[in-house]
Amino acid sequence: MKRLMLYCVLIFTTPFVITGCGNNAGNTTTTADSTAKKGITKAAWGNYDGKEVFLFTLTNAKGNQVKISNYGGTVTSWVAPDKSGAKNSIVLGYDSLSGYLAHPPYFGATVGRYGNRIGNAQFTLEGKTYKLAANNGKNSLHGGLKGFDKQVWDASTASDSIPSLTLKYTSKDGEEGFPGNLSVTVQYTLSDDDELKLEYSATTDKATPINLTNHSYFNLTGDVSNTILNHKLQINADNYTPVDTSLITTGVIAPVKGTPFDFTTPTAIGTRIDLVKGGYDHNFVLNSKGGTLQQAATLTDSVSGRKLEVFTTEPGLQFYTGNFLDGSLTNHDGKAIKQHTALCMETQHFPDSPNKPQFPSCILKPGETYHTVTVYKLSVGQ
Ligand code: GLA
Repeated sequence: MKRLMLYCVLIFTTPFVITGCGNNAGNTTTTADSTAKKGITKAAWGNYDGKEVFLFTLTNAKGNQVKISNYGGTVTSWVAPDKSGAKNSIVLGYDSLSGYLAHPPYFGATVGRYGNRIGNAQFTLEGKTYKLAANNGKNSLHGGLKGFDKQVWDASTASDSIPSLTLKYTSKDGEEGFPGNLSVTVQYTLSDDDELKLEYSATTDKATPINLTNHSYFNLTGDVSNTILNHKLQINADNYTPVDTSLITTGVIAPVKGTPFDFTTPTAIGTRIDLVKGGYDHNFVLNSKGGTLQQAATLTDSVSGRKLEVFTTEPGLQFYTGNFLDGSLTNHDGKAIKQHTALCMETQHFPDSPNKPQFPSCILKPGETYHTVTVYKLSVGQ
């Protein structure tokens, strides 16, 4: 109790933190608080692993809001107007921590230490073979049994010209089978132009694979009664990485031309999805090749008039059409989340890179700093 009071005193004396002594987030995540001022607020959101969990709300000058929890570095909602001015969230999520503790399929999560799959749940690095948990058939997926999406991160906030949240997590040597103590920082900022910027940094004391990404599921209509099959997508990728039946990359880099993977011009997602067994769940080889911040993809929806552009320094983009969503989970507004009612655009290194020397290296060595940036830019037309 004493601690709670101290917390309340602290937050009421901190200029940009304007709400936050309740046990939940207050406002639901499907609507924005129209009285909210530009800045960042912090609300108690429960406890996990003996640590306090918070929900942060970043509000920009337009009053648009992104909510992020330090549980899993999870983006729980992103509320902005559609072309008629109606506000709802363009990402799937829950209003309470309990939803996330039930382990939904990475809704909005920060995924690591290695986002995407590692074949046969093992890799060899500097002559040593490391075994990981096989949590996806025989493969390792998204960092293992308790990846970064299920950790409570340390949080700090700033509200200079734009609101920002910085999350830090130290993954111990041997955690989930990976080598090296890895110190990770993710900074989230929301600009007045509705750019959600995710900046990842990390250092290690032993060579390790690393592949950090965000696993937000987007539906630009903000309503999962609509599928994403009419959304139009354009990806700046002339090539993709084909996969085997367990979704492990074969090692081949194949041209998209003449295949259902050709999104070089804006194409409705549903046009050719039936030709792809199970739906899209593939890594696209970005023409930028990574290294500098360049446009990777553009997603548009004529119903809401919304457009989402993705920029990244990463060489790859996993395009996933929510194939495993089956209606058993419900969104913020209580509606069932069915197959193809949301999609992910996960910026990343290529799947199974630790076992594919021909792919861009995902190995971070002591003395080096991992640094990647991804920007999701939202806009609305008529
Ligand atoms: C990633 C994978 C998918 C699926 C989802 C989570 O996007 O590529 O196959 O596992 O995560 O359900």
